[in-house]
Amino acid sequence: MTIKESLNSNWMFHYGEMKRVPYKTTKKAVSLGGITAPIKGEAGQRLPVSAGGSHFLKLIAQGDEQQGLLNLADTDLTSELSADWKKIDLPHDWNRQSPYVNQPEKLMSGSKPDACGYYRKTFTLTTDDLNNLRTILHFDGVMRMADVWLNGTYLGHNNSGYNAFSFDITEMARYGQEGVNVVLVRADTTTGAEGWWYEGAGIYRSVWLEHKPLVSLKEDSCYIYTKSLNDDTAQLGVELTVENNTATQQVVSPQVLLDGQVVMQFGDVEVGSYQNKQFKTTIKVTDPKLWTPENPYCYKAEFIVANDKVEKNLGIHTFDYTTSGFFLNGKSYQLHGICEHQDFVGVGTALNQDIVDYKVSVMKKMGVNAWRSTHHFASEELLDACDRYGVIVIDENRLLESSPWRIQDLAQMVQKDWMHPSIAFWSISNEELVGNTPLGSRIAQKIVRTIKKFDFEHLIIGAELLTPEGIIDEDYVKNLDVLGVNYPEAGVMGSGAKLIHQKYPDLPMMSTENASYFSTRGAYKDSGDLDQCNNFGSYFSMVLPGLRKPGDPGLGGTAHPETVMQYLHENPYIGGVFLWTGFDYYGEPSPFNWPAISSQFGIADLCGFPKDYYYYYQAHWTTKKLVHLMPSWNKEQLDLDADGKTTVKAFSNAQEVELFVNNQSFGKQAVSDCSATWEVPFEAGAIKVLAYENGSVVASDIRFTNGDTVRIKQCKVYEGQTTTLYKLMAIDEQGNLVENANNQIKLQVTKGKLIASGNGNPIDHNMSFDDISLFNGLALAIVSKDSELTIKIH
Ligand code: GAL
Repeated sequence: MTIKESLNSNWMFHYGEMKRVPYKTTKKAVSLGGITAPIKGEAGQRLPVSAGGSHFLKLIAQGDEQQGLLNLADTDLTSELSADWKKIDLPHDWNRQSPYVNQPEKLMSGSKPDACGYYRKTFTLTTDDLNNLRTILHFDGVMRMADVWLNGTYLGHNNSGYNAFSFDITEMARYGQEGVNVVLVRADTTTGAEGWWYEGAGIYRSVWLEHKPLVSLKEDSCYIYTKSLNDDTAQLGVELTVENNTATQQVVSPQVLLDGQVVMQFGDVEVGSYQNKQFKTTIKVTDPKLWTPENPYCYKAEFIVANDKVEKNLGIHTFDYTTSGFFLNGKSYQLHGICEHQDFVGVGTALNQDIVDYKVSVMKKMGVNAWRSTHHFASEELLDACDRYGVIVIDENRLLESSPWRIQDLAQMVQKDWMHPSIAFWSISNEELVGNTPLGSRIAQKIVRTIKKFDFEHLIIGAELLTPEGIIDEDYVKNLDVLGVNYPEAGVMGSGAKLIHQKYPDLPMMSTENASYFSTRGAYKDSGDLDQCNNFGSYFSMVLPGLRKPGDPGLGGTAHPETVMQYLHENPYIGGVFLWTGFDYYGEPSPFNWPAISSQFGIADLCGFPKDYYYYYQAHWTTKKLVHLMPSWNKEQLDLDADGKTTVKAFSNAQEVELFVNNQSFGKQAVSDCSATWEVPFEAGAIKVLAYENGSVVASDIRFTNGDTVRIKQCKVYEGQTTTLYKLMAIDEQGNLVENANNQIKLQVTKGKLIASGNGNPIDHNMSFDDISLFNGLALAIVSKDSELTIKIH
């Protein structure tokens, strides 16, 4: 069976260029030397030289073999690892440790400098590996342009930061007594960005050594998909490809199992020496257990040939999209989606499976059933989490370009991801300027052909720019199964989407991006000095500078959540919504400039802590009765009017809500659009809301005027396989959360490891993980699972 060995631990990392940059081409095989090969103290020769080679090298350099090597091949005989190489584990985003820079051209991408960095690791292989296995070095993703060397040889290059890539190193590797294997990676972000958001830097996804039997399955070729679904039967297409890497012809009879039952046994077939053979068939499954977000049933699919086995999740489901919206398993299904970049507080883009699971779980609790991986191919970890949690994915290949390398990346990523139960859509663009042009149309055709050559199950969309006049290119949209439009509800887009719908009533349309509503967790007034936006709705504008007045365009973002939900309600043909974004992310700090370094579009902040409107969506999208009250109840956090009054809002999915200020009732209100609003005088103490269903209290919420912080409470918000996330909460003498606390605190891990920390403040430039401040009462600590964390208040 193919064994995947993690190569994530014990790398050496160097920030910046090498004094001597390793060559890529070479005059003599395997002779690059330097840090691309074993150095002093590492087992193995720089390059194995034959007797003839040694004789020759001596002949050309007066008997000095090393000098001969230098003269002949310019082999690097001297480079060592200098003291500034550091030991790190993957995934790793070096940008989290590089200082912020105030450069307007870097603002959108998170105010970090571009740079290059080197990663180096040694590993050993046994002679058993050589005789029985092939060895593949696999990278899940490196940001950005990557060059890779192995044992004195340049292996190759990868362009995009968003695709996986591998090298078959079987022959080039060293086995047993031959010494260690040296892998060197140079990642470079100075070659230009791929996006206008924070992208991270370095080997930010996992690296694997795959040990494959000589007769094996091509992992990506193993594919089962739903062809059709009738009352009690699913027809499934099954494909797999067998590789014979032996010197003799092999007879194979592959098997496919679902949940341990053999569902396909192919007869004996000959595969020629060093040849591949594809197998294809259709099978029936009666009474299939269907995959839905509500019941994400994943069959365990096993593909077996000879000594090899590949395991994947299978979801049985069908997807369709008409002018009435999205259909899952033949039933109309409204998409409650978010758009999301890859990063997270402290770790940047270097998220392990547990942190991804935490992000998905926070959104799932809000009622999210769909996720658009903007604007990049979803990571393996994200797809895995969405398969398990039950979240439908739009997997995005954003750039509308058909250069051969991009097409090759696309073909490879489609085949890598296609069997994930969660994927329903491939997105081929996002707001590309050449979308809806004849050029865009030709490129889109090529991209769609590339996807449909392999993939028979998923729908193709493009997330397109709207115009208020609703202009589209008819040829261009023919490439799409569904025309995606961004921000149909936004005032600045006029009636663009509606006009397209009127003119092309048979064109399926979907809303691919919505809201871009900015708010700062715990802020209930705008502040240009602190770069904070009021959760009730900011008077900063998306399109005009400075604080504006009511009625100006773009106030509070592209659209308020209420506008988004109303638009969806009135236009169900748009299929649902994809809110921009689930979480705040580094970069794109609109509506602010430096010193703001992170976006404020999130429904949760950078740490995953919900902002108030999280509960508005949750009230709409979940059924368990809830009520949430805003604002906090500390005078200096509020925007009081001349009479000392402030707005109070409750979000609820119950019938009625009643507000109390210091136990005085301000009356019951019928809940409308999952909310109710009061104007009440501020009076220190407590505000409380009760939610009623048929006259009985079903939920409540309370906010207090706070005293000083007396202690920090640690609250486990997620515990995964290797990592635990703690919410750190400022607590006052009454035992209440201090919602205006910004105390400096010191984190100490007596056992285990502090992986990262953060607080969600959009101007927090702190580079230390253990010396941090709270932001509006909270911070997040990410630690290894076995850790013991103690916290001191400064
Ligand atoms: C969209 C774009 C996103 C993000 C967002 C901010 O137009 O697709 O990437 O920039 O605007 O509002």
